[in-house]
Amino acid sequence: MTRETKIMTEQLLRLGVNIDHVATIRNARGGVHPSPLHAAHLAAKAGADGITAHLREDRRHISDADISALMAEIALPLNLEMAATAEMLEIALSHKPNACCIVPEKREELTTEGGLDVVGGKQHLSGFVGALKASGIRVSLFIDANEGQITASADIGADIIELHTGRYCELEGRARADELSRLVAGAELGAKLGLEVHAGHGLNYETVGDVAKIPQVQELNIGHFLVGEAIFVGFEASIKTMRKHMDTARGSARS
Ligand code: PXP
Repeated sequence: MTRETKIMTEQLLRLGVNIDHVATIRNARGGVHPSPLHAAHLAAKAGADGITAHLREDRRHISDADISALMAEIALPLNLEMAATAEMLEIALSHKPNACCIVPEKREELTTEGGLDVVGGKQHLSGFVGALKASGIRVSLFIDANEGQITASADIGADIIELHTGRYCELEGRARADELSRLVAGAELGAKLGLEVHAGHGLNYETVGDVAKIPQVQELNIGHFLVGEAIFVGFEASIKTMRKHMDTARGSARS
């Protein structure tokens, strides 16, 4: 292991807990339970380093009121996931969360499918990156681990790239190993270009280890699995176990 890699593996790997699907369950009955704000408090108690919430155009889970409550009552940094639309930009600028992660959004999709096309949308996206950064918000772009997308993200001034791990989690065997190699190469390139590297989507206890071992990755954003597992073991327990898997993998990468 080179000295540079050793220093990077010693960097703390942060866990951002995505609470969208607490809101999904609440919204199934249209009431107030379970509360995403309560979930965020529990996540903080369980050792989360940040809270992530995606305010979708159709408000299918997180609501505007949830964002207001999280900003007012949670001490942890909020990572607001949003599409690159004028409406979302206005909301982000009014709340000034710690970070905004720009994601592609299609009305008909079940979840965020694939990364943002930064290459194709460079001009449109650079306006958003500039406006968010000018108001002190860190900007992350959710992209596939693709050389062109990573380079374009650096070109338009993003602070962070979040590498999409969805495909890695869905694949098996050789195909999964190949996708992991792409994530490793993407993280290396991102760091080389001065970008902070995050990763997320679809991670669970089984898939998190190899991603946590990538030395340049500084933060993982995980939601659906943690909320699902919480049904069986409780939210704090699912978060603590995930943390343990992350720390064990990071530790073994270090030795
Ligand atoms: N990161 C980003 C940018 C996302 O859009 C999502 C899903 O909202 C996640 C991470 C978390 O994915 P999951 O809920 O599958 O853990």
